[in-house]
Amino acid sequence: MITVALPKGRIAEQTLDIFKEIFNEDFQFKGRELILKKAGFTFLNVRNWDVATYVYHQAADIGVVGYDVLKELNLDVLELLDMKLGICKICVGGIKGDESYKNKTELKVATKLQGIAKEYFSKKGIPAEIIKLNGSIELAPLIGLSDVIVDIVETGTTMKENGLEVKEDVLDYVSARLIANKNSFVAKKPQIIELYERIEEIVNK
Ligand code: PRP
Repeated sequence: MITVALPKGRIAEQTLDIFKEIFNEDFQFKGRELILKKAGFTFLNVRNWDVATYVYHQAADIGVVGYDVLKELNLDVLELLDMKLGICKICVGGIKGDESYKNKTELKVATKLQGIAKEYFSKKGIPAEIIKLNGSIELAPLIGLSDVIVDIVETGTTMKENGLEVKEDVLDYVSARLIANKNSFVAKKPQIIELYERIEEIVNK
């Protein structure tokens, strides 16, 4: 039995579609069920930010998680494969046409990616106050909570519809990654490798 942690939403659906293709069976969480058992797998329906935690603590053997979250949490798990799903960037965003943020002595940065934002500005030698938010990050510069944001940009629609624009790229390629618990990888190596190879075949075809 292999336990797989999947992030609620589109990435979970796309990952279950991959399993469907491999095993020629339907994999779907029913209603609001959080556990799905099928074909020797137990799938856990968890929040995006919790996938790596389940894997790190070996509550799940493997998982699928966005590289942004993986980098931010910095947990000791194995990164096995780029699933090429949920592709996006991490950017500094600010009010369109307004470059005044460049002249601040200390930049106020709203983000849910605190570690990534902190590292980015510190490498540039720019003093930054990081303000942690949990969502709707684009709101912060509009009402003066921050000068800029550091956030995920996928289609760019959220920034555009709120009068913001990308100012700088922090990380220009972010995607969902297949990760494994280090002990599980040793204990269940043949099963995990076999699964990895079949997933790889599909994502790279
Ligand atoms: C993410 C991100 C941006 C948006 C970017 O938010 O924080 O707000 O998606 O996507 P776009 O470039 O295609 O518009 P999410 O939907 O996860 O919601 P939340 O962060 O507000 O919870």
